[in-house]
Amino acid sequence: MSSSSLKTKAKSNIRVGILGCGAIGSRIAKSIKDDGRAVLTGLFDINPAKSENLQKHLPQKNIVKKSYDELLHASDLVVEAVNAPDTRELVRRALLARKDVLIMSVGKFIEGESIFALAQKQGVRVLIPSGAIAGVDALKAVSQQRIDRITLTTRKPIYGFADNAFVQQKRINLSQITKETILFEGNVREAVKCFPQNINVAATIALASGARDKLRIRIATSPEFKVNSHEIEAAGDFGRLVTKTENVVCPDNPKTSYLAVLSAVRTLKEYFQGVKIGT
Ligand SMILES: NC(=O)c1ccc[n+]([C@@H]2O[C@H](COP(=O)([O-])OP(=O)(O)OC[C@H]3O[C@@H](n4cnc5c(N)ncnc54)[C@H](O)[C@@H]3O)[C@@H](O)[C@H]2O)c1
Repeated sequence: MSSSSLKTKAKSNIRVGILGCGAIGSRIAKSIKDDGRAVLTGLFDINPAKSENLQKHLPQKNIVKKSYDELLHASDLVVEAVNAPDTRELVRRALLARKDVLIMSVGKFIEGESIFALAQKQGVRVLIPSGAIAGVDALKAVSQQRIDRITLTTRKPIYGFADNAFVQQKRINLSQITKETILFEGNVREAVKCFPQNINVAATIALASGARDKLRIRIATSPEFKVNSHEIEAAGDFGRLVTKTENVVCPDNPKTSYLAVLSAVRTLKEYFQGVKIGT
């Protein structure tokens, strides 16, 4: 995007469309105040009851769209907050229509190069918030140096794994766990397959650091864990960094950390204002 178009966007009312009116999409929609920089112009959900229900809680009138094409038509920026098998295709369509896109389902873009190249070709921007972790600012900075290793350790309460296919397939008896136990250790690609619920955070680390192949994922549980936590440890030419995040869950969706919502809202605020703090 040229600097002149950046200036234009920062000054004018950016039309925002929400794709997916679940926990994250709804909270982002409510955060957009039509303050002269941004205006909420569209809601679309594959389940119309979701978008209709969200509409009832918003000051903007008649912004529910009947199709994704209608949403694209009404937006300059699309907020992707779906849990769809075809998320990549939905984002690709937005970029082809020359819309900026904020991506929440980062796990779907772990190999994101082709999407980023498309955005560049189209002259539009892709925004990926830090999401449910701390440390993305530093990982982006140190990606310019040699990184030797990154470890992400995700700790969750036992109930967080109750319906996990990997745990069932490995015949891990969760009720017999009495102390911290590693359920999985492996690379990002294996983690995507075995623990799709944890992959957004891992994908964000992989993309920010540019060191996908140096990234190890550990997933642990214990009866003592009461919150979802993510710990990053990285080392390289820059030195060493360690961050730990202990997340409360989003009241509307216990699978989503509230920090992910806050992070997205702040990313959008900076985008609307044209002021970016961090890294
Ligand atoms: N980046 C992060 O740190 C982070 C953290 C938490 C969640 N997430 C991801 O963000 C996404 C949204 O999370 P959420 O908690 O709001 O989920 P949610 O389940 O509460 O809401 C998702 C909504 O998407 C809708 N939907 C599904 N397929 C659709 C389609 N094809 N078109 C339109 N709408 C569709 C559903 O009907 C639902 O209303 C998920 O992919 C989740 O994994 C990212």
